[in-house]
Amino acid sequence: MKQQEKVQSILNEFDIEKFRSQLIDWFNKEQRILPWRDNQDPYRVWVSEIMLQQTRVDTVIPYFNNFMEQFPTPEALANAKEQDVLKAWEGLGYYSRARNLQNAVREVVAHYEGRVPDNKGQLGDLKGVGPYTQGAILSIAFDQPEPAVDGNVMRVLSRILMVEEDIAKANTKSLFEALVRSLISTDNPSAFNQGLMELGAIICTPKSPSCLLCPVRSECRAFNAGREQDLPYKTKKKKQKKQPYIALFIENEKGEVLIEQRPEEGLLASLWQYPMAPLNEVSEQDIPSWFYGEYGLKINVQSTIDHVHHVFSHLIWDMQVKKAHPTDGALDRKRSRFVSKESIKEYPFPVSHQKIHKHLS
Ligand code: ADE
Repeated sequence: MKQQEKVQSILNEFDIEKFRSQLIDWFNKEQRILPWRDNQDPYRVWVSEIMLQQTRVDTVIPYFNNFMEQFPTPEALANAKEQDVLKAWEGLGYYSRARNLQNAVREVVAHYEGRVPDNKGQLGDLKGVGPYTQGAILSIAFDQPEPAVDGNVMRVLSRILMVEEDIAKANTKSLFEALVRSLISTDNPSAFNQGLMELGAIICTPKSPSCLLCPVRSECRAFNAGREQDLPYKTKKKKQKKQPYIALFIENEKGEVLIEQRPEEGLLASLWQYPMAPLNEVSEQDIPSWFYGEYGLKINVQSTIDHVHHVFSHLIWDMQVKKAHPTDGALDRKRSRFVSKESIKEYPFPVSHQKIHKHLS
């Protein structure tokens, strides 16, 4: 079946008008007071939507407030040092979001006089602005009837419309985007899209949804069939691969500690960390010679002082943290340096390595 036929068939006998007005009335009454809802400034909407990807509202709020204080305008963010932006993002995870956001904002300042574009073509050319973020900015900030479909919206709509397709598939996402194009209110696209997001966040939650409090339960096919817990259907992703490491807390005789900046590309790009030896490439007893080869410094590795287990979306770091001291040689490696314990906290670290900071005192 072609997608438009599928949309027609799903929406057959669905009371769109009633659903819309129930959703929007509820959102207007019950929405949470959130800092990015103070106004429709597209820059604030943009920053909030990037932060909210993969991250919970409660976690985002203090980061958003701090970010807006430090970088209140596109110009302020464009002119900031990347390390300061990463420092403001420290702990939020998925750091490429911050780097892409700054790159895209620099583009907006350079080409559009600092004004966030109000059309898909220009928004879509910006780094890190995919279909979800485009739709969110266009609907929330510019009142355009564009879909903003993420996992939460797919969960909500798969229940309401009883769509049993696998939400892990790209085709299914595009089906939901087409459905939203038919459902969305042209009078109030902002409240409609935010209403779907809000419903997913506070009522139509992944486990045990609060159907008895739901403003649209009369229209919800899954609720009426008693099947809300069966939906959405989603194939499981692959299990994360476990990677064992030894992280080295290397303190010299001046009380300084060795840290290094990660490469400019890839996982945790440009963040700082304690040196790490990958145990699937180096055996534990070979660490001093491996380290000498990589860093030009002989070290004496001592006891294990900590164990850090950190789960990423696609892999797990399992780090033994060992204390060590330099014994000979001179540090000879780009992007690494000994720093005083006081200044270490000025550098942006990923959460996994922030957990090692407690050994500084
Ligand atoms: N999740 C994604 N976008 C959101 C928004 N604007 N408000 C609340 N939760 C969200």
